[in-house]
This record gives sequence, C-alpha cells and structure tokens, in this order.
Amino acid sequence: MKFEVSSNKIFSFIGSNKEEIHPFWLRERVSEKEHLDESTQQRLFDPSSMKQTVEIVNAEINGEFLKVKFNDGVDSRFEIKKLSDELSLNSNQIIDIEKVKWKSDFKNIKSFKFSDKFADSNEMLNLLINFYKYGFVVIQDVPTNDNFLVKFGNMIGSVKRTNFGEHFNVKSKPNPNDLAYTALNLSPHTDNPYRKPIPNIQLLHCIENEVSGGYSTLVDGFSVAESLKKNQPNFFKILTEVKVKFRFVDKNVVLENVGQLIELDEDNKIKQVRFSTRLDFVPALEKERLDLYYQARNKISEIYNSNKFLIKFKLMPGDLLMMDNYRLLHGRTEFNSNEGNRFLQGCYIDYDSSEGKLRHLLRKFI
Ligand SMILES: [Fe+2]
Repeated sequence: MKFEVSSNKIFSFIGSNKEEIHPFWLRERVSEKEHLDESTQQRLFDPSSMKQTVEIVNAEINGEFLKVKFNDGVDSRFEIKKLSDELSLNSNQIIDIEKVKWKSDFKNIKSFKFSDKFADSNEMLNLLINFYKYGFVVIQDVPTNDNFLVKFGNMIGSVKRTNFGEHFNVKSKPNPNDLAYTALNLSPHTDNPYRKPIPNIQLLHCIENEVSGGYSTLVDGFSVAESLKKNQPNFFKILTEVKVKFRFVDKNVVLENVGQLIELDEDNKIKQVRFSTRLDFVPALEKERLDLYYQARNKISEIYNSNKFLIKFKLMPGDLLMMDNYRLLHGRTEFNSNEGNRFLQGCYIDYDSSEGKLRHLLRKFI
C-alpha cells in the first residue's frame, strides 16, 4: 500500500483508490509510551472524551515510518507496515486462512504428536492453522491418565464447562440421558445445538478402544451445504431460512436454542451448520412450506450419511480429535460392547481459545 502526504493530509492508495486517512483515526493509534501502555498495549488516554477537532499540523514519510505532528501538541511516529495491514484489513490473519473443503476421498488427515512443550510450540501453531483449514486435526500420544483432555483444552485456552461437567465420558452405560452413551450407531450430527451459545469446538480423546467397530465418522458440513446449493437451490434456501428449535431435557435442566440447519453470514457465506435430528423441532409453518422443509431435511440427511462425503477412521488410545462443531458433523459406527471397552472423553472449547492462541503463536513465530 502506498502513502502520500499533501497539504497536511495523509492519503492511502489501494490500487487506484485514493482515500484520506482521518486525522482522529491516526491520533487514536499513537503508540509512544506516554500514550500506550507497553505491556498491555492498552491506551493511556480515552479517545471517546477527546475533542474530534484533531488536525495534522505536519506530516512526513521517512523510510518505513510516518511522522505526524497533531494540533494538540502530540508528536508521533507510525510504522507504515502496521497502518497498511490495518487499512487493508489484513490484521485478521485467522479469517484469511482459507477453508479447504473436503469429501470422502479426503486422505490428508493432519495428525500431530503430543510432546512436553507442545503448548507454545511451532507444532501447536501448525495444528491450529490446519484446524482452521480442514475443520479438524488429530493429536497422537496425548496422555490418557487423570482427565488429561481437560489439561490439553486448557493448553489452547479455557475448557467450557457445561451441565455435563468440565468433560464428559463417552462409554455405554445403563439408563443413558443421551444416545452417545450407548453402543448404537450415531449418525453424523453437530453437538449441543440446544446450548446458548453452541460450543464452537469439540475435543474427543480416545482412552480405550478394544472393539472391532466403533469407528469415528466426520463430514464437512460446509462441503455438503455447497453441494446442496449447487444441485438443489430450493432445498438450500429453505434450510437457510427456517429457524428450528433444538431442545435437551433431563431431570435437572431444560436447554433450548433456535437456528437454521444452514446459517449464512451477512455476505451470504456459510457460517454454521446444525444437525441433530433426535432433538429438533421445526415450527408449524404453512403446509406447503413445511413440505418443502421436510424434503430438504431428508435430502441433506441423505447426503450427510452418504459415502460421498463421510470419512471414517479409528481412534486409538492416546488419539485426540479436535473438530469444529460449527462446520463438521461427527458420529460413530456401532460396536459390540461385549468385545471389550470403548471409552472416549470429550470436552468443549470456544473459538476465543483457538483464535487467541493462534494469534499469540503467529506473533511468536512469524
Ligand atoms: Fe456428538
């Protein structure tokens, strides 16, 4: 990005687009130590209480820096690279990680080896970048003792406690309050669409897996939604419009939240998928519209369960699967609990954790 100073005005050029940088915008960004706390990077002044009549009385470009004198007596030096990044919206490197959509022929499962100094390592940085690309990663050799899963989650950020506790144990048990705690096949679903907010990321750690079935399954929900948009746009449209209620009930709590099976953002890009057909309740819409909704849900269910999109692999003791609960669906094949033990532990963290850690490691290594 090019900068130009003319008659005490500063201009930036993006391509042929010339824009004046607002003097107050620049004044808010002064970073000398009397204005900005060095360790917290927080302002030592409150710009919301300042008069907005700030003007530039002198400005010059000096190599990689822009020197500016403001009419309130403040002299400041700005790094041009930093200003460029912010002006070109490059400062959010996480949004810039391109999502690589995949189908059942996906063979590139990214796995990482856990080690003692994993938390702040280059390996963790690679892990997080790949998580944002593919929506999941597997970490091998994660200790299986003392609920280490929770320690792992807290290495990235903070484990999100729910009414299931800090973590939950997935093994078949009598009188389960969720089908996860049986030996039945679990078709692809997203977790906890009834929570507010819905957990962003699930960590699933294999402690024991002695059975011949019990494979883990994953589907890239964004890939499926795109395919539906291309092939059955009317189904895609209704699934992006109808807000469905999801509900969880047990003897202690009633949890509810509403949302579309495919939610779009303000730019009409796919933002989140929800799919949990054992606890969804569509509103009583007009009959024709409901007809279309049911056909669309049938279709997307068929695609989610088809061999075209689903990958299947076996988690072994020590393997920890980290998956994006807003993008991926997960499930498992049925198993026979008489063959031996199958024991997984799960917990949730939020993007707040993964993004915060990723930004920190980008700052550290790049
Ligand atoms: Fe689940």
